[in-house]
Amino acid sequence: MTTELLALGSAAAAAALLAPRAWRRAQLSLAKQPGLAGHSRIALRLARWLPGYDLDESRFFGADDAPEALQQRRRAGLARLATGFKSRHPRTLELTQAARQLVSDLQFTGRYRVPFPFSRYLREQFGVGAFLEQADGNQVQDLDGQRFWDLTGSYGVNVFGHGFYQRTMTEGARRALPLGVVLGSYHPAVLDVAQRLTRLSGQDEVSFHMSGTEAVMQAVRLARYHSGRKKIVRFCGAYHGWWGEVQPGPGNPLPAEHTYTLRDMDERSLGVLRSRNDIACVLVNPLQALHPNRPAPGDSALLGSRVIAPVDLDAYGRWLRRLREVCSERGIALIFDEVFVGFRLAPGGAQQLFGVNADLVTYGKTLGGGLPVGVVCGKSAWMRRFRDDKPADICFARGTFNAHPQVICAMQAFLEALESPAIQAIYEGQAKRWDERAARFNQALQQAGHPVQVRHLQSIWTLAFPTPGRYHWMLQFYLREQGLLLSWVGSGRIVFSLDVSEADMDEVLRRLLAACAQMRADGWWDGAPSSKQLKRQLLMETWRAWRQA
Ligand SMILES: Cc1ncc(COP(=O)(O)O)c(C=O)c1O
Repeated sequence: MTTELLALGSAAAAAALLAPRAWRRAQLSLAKQPGLAGHSRIALRLARWLPGYDLDESRFFGADDAPEALQQRRRAGLARLATGFKSRHPRTLELTQAARQLVSDLQFTGRYRVPFPFSRYLREQFGVGAFLEQADGNQVQDLDGQRFWDLTGSYGVNVFGHGFYQRTMTEGARRALPLGVVLGSYHPAVLDVAQRLTRLSGQDEVSFHMSGTEAVMQAVRLARYHSGRKKIVRFCGAYHGWWGEVQPGPGNPLPAEHTYTLRDMDERSLGVLRSRNDIACVLVNPLQALHPNRPAPGDSALLGSRVIAPVDLDAYGRWLRRLREVCSERGIALIFDEVFVGFRLAPGGAQQLFGVNADLVTYGKTLGGGLPVGVVCGKSAWMRRFRDDKPADICFARGTFNAHPQVICAMQAFLEALESPAIQAIYEGQAKRWDERAARFNQALQQAGHPVQVRHLQSIWTLAFPTPGRYHWMLQFYLREQGLLLSWVGSGRIVFSLDVSEADMDEVLRRLLAACAQMRADGWWDGAPSSKQLKRQLLMETWRAWRQA
């Protein structure tokens, strides 16, 4: 084996001498994260090949070859959950059912709450309400008056609590209504907002867009325009919106021709940046500090364990500084995609937290003060959309609703509030506060003997399941039963608003522990297979489905 490796090593060295292109190609391959997340083309092909199959009643409860008595406990647990949901949320479920056929998104999210083999049977047993009618404090209420603690964070938008956004939205409407829907000409608040944003981001200029996805599209387009290069580097697992070029792999019907997906926090990726001349920009989503090289941990992909190491912020900060150096050396635009973490980790977002100044920064979500928005802030040299010496060579970017008066005014109200002493006080010492909270949760979970841990990047949490098991995703329904609301991706993404009190956290912990205790009592964690058995079970299921297909 050693001799073979040596032979391979010298072959690589020979290739380096003889064929720099081949060497660069090999270097690129080595900088890819092993596994499907790092190889989007293969993942795309596999996704097209993977046969669908459903576990019927007889296999649903015994997918892990559990004995009959244990299956009966699980069956009874599921029946109890179903009865409870139906009796507590009748109106909400009725409306959800009526909307399902008409709203494509609802069909999609309803299907992908859990791993697909379990999805059909589960949907036949119970539905999950998609409607809410009121939000106050950290709670939301459905059409049946049932209240939930909101752990969804509204996909990350909710940084300061629902009441805060109700105020900024109202204030935005009040300031903007006299102008109505005049577009093209600006509401006077635009200047104030631009001044505040450039100050906060440490950048020179601002452009307004309608969503985070569009902000990312524009940042990448600018990077290509100014560098004259085509390729984008993104890091394995990072989400940057649903635009095709930043979403290679399953989800996008076309392979992304000009996107390199490289290993996060890895010297080999810096090697690629140093050696290639075709890279326009590097996109960084600092949320990846929570789970480098992995996609957002959704429950539909929770086939076995979910192991996530505690965050190492120092290491991630060092990595960003190295990236900054290499991008500067190579004339590559460093884009921080702060659509999720901006204004959450610190007033100045990840740039401030890690002490790194990017060339272009994208924001969205919370910045709209509750309304939809995307913003790019950047250095003048990267933001400019024309060339004095070549007037026909422009970088076009428009959008009918860009800088909509009501959005701009809600954003202004958001940015004004951000500077208030009350909000500034919320940021004070928050890193330590969230560390202590997560430690408290982990201690309680461990003491109770539940196979669950929390991992966190400040207020952004994820539940980890260190031991293998085929039913960890069931926890999302036990959490719902306890009045803890998650988004459709489930237990992998819990997002707190920064205004939660210690008493709120205690209540959430109490309910989490109750959910885990009930899940355990109903037998979903009993008789868990070893990871070897689990892999075998999955392989056998797929094989059977493939043969039947
Ligand atoms: C880091 C990041 N970039 C971009 C986007 C896309 O933003 P939007 O959903 O507003 O298009 C998201 C959305 O979750 C995001 O988290």
